[in-house]
Amino acid sequence: MISSMTERTYHTELQSEAASFKPHSGGVVTGTAAWSCPSNIAIVKYWGKREVQLPMNPSLSITLREAVTRTHLEYRFNPEIRKPGLTFRFGGREAPGFGQRTRTFLERITPFMPWLRHTVLRIDSENTFPHSSGIASSASAMGALAICLVAAEASIVRPEASGDLLDDPGVLKKASFLARLGSGSASRSLFPGLALWGKSDVWPGASDEYAIPVTGFHEDFRDMRDAILIVESGQKKVSSSAGHALMEGNPFAASRFGQARENLEQLAPILREGDWPGLIRVLEEEALTLHAMMMTGRPGYLLMLPQTLAILQRVRSFREETGCRIGFTLDAGANVHLVYADGDAFPSEGFIRNELTRFCENGRVIHDRMGTGPESLI
Ligand code: DP6
Repeated sequence: MISSMTERTYHTELQSEAASFKPHSGGVVTGTAAWSCPSNIAIVKYWGKREVQLPMNPSLSITLREAVTRTHLEYRFNPEIRKPGLTFRFGGREAPGFGQRTRTFLERITPFMPWLRHTVLRIDSENTFPHSSGIASSASAMGALAICLVAAEASIVRPEASGDLLDDPGVLKKASFLARLGSGSASRSLFPGLALWGKSDVWPGASDEYAIPVTGFHEDFRDMRDAILIVESGQKKVSSSAGHALMEGNPFAASRFGQARENLEQLAPILREGDWPGLIRVLEEEALTLHAMMMTGRPGYLLMLPQTLAILQRVRSFREETGCRIGFTLDAGANVHLVYADGDAFPSEGFIRNELTRFCENGRVIHDRMGTGPESLI
């Protein structure tokens, strides 16, 4: 009871801020916000949720650099407007599916951003990475939109404020909170390096409502690489939302949530000390458990393909033979993310090229690395 009360503190704070919202005397405000936000790959996975987008266990991810969504938002706030408006374009074209998801998201966040009721929005968005490529596009898309909306809010609610938006630490916290309501993993995309979402006793400041940056990790983990091996680029057979829902009837769910908590606790010293073998152990255990949860749901399902398994086995043999600091992880799909040390990039990339691309669709591999978080585009 006490913990669920403290968990909802920020939610309540935002609601009472919203209740006191009054349009400023100037009336109409028009403006533009444009931000890029990266995707992320989880080391400890979020899999299973409750209420509105609250995680069953804490998760921790690497923020990527190259795989980003760029969102351009034009807004026109007018207290006289009684019905909000939205035009949504993706990659320069009308995108009804994404538009509908955005509309649902905006309705969900309006209690925390009451000015949205009187605003017409025009959103243009694009990704730097291909659709269905095994990179979580909802994470970067919801992250970019959330930070654009926080920027718009600053000019509508506090037109007198000046300076860099990111100078205010509250900005990323609110953007992360909002992004979470669009897609859970998006909450983690707002921070550079590593980010943690979900309450954990060993990580001060961690919350179920928003993610926080993980600081103080060892320099051997800086600039970690992530090569994404595209085994299959098609639409996923079972969506993440359906997968989260299936955790409810999964007989192993409770022990899985406990395992994630334990892995997070173990990560604290691993990250501080630069313990690559420790990191790889957690990374691979989490990937395999994520898929074990899919297989043991009711009904169970399989997203790995024979090529996925061939890659995982070869990665383990290569590591044993060479001692390279490289490990695998998986998202909710057949594609494989290989996380490796910057210092082992040369042998690891040679191995990927010579031994693994043949298991990939058209030999496709996307090379990414740890990134620095959202950036303003204007
Ligand atoms: C396997 O964040 O896509 O990538 O909250 O329903 O949008 P929703 O789910 P989503 O789930 C991501 C699951 C995962 C693991 C992770 O990123 O932690």
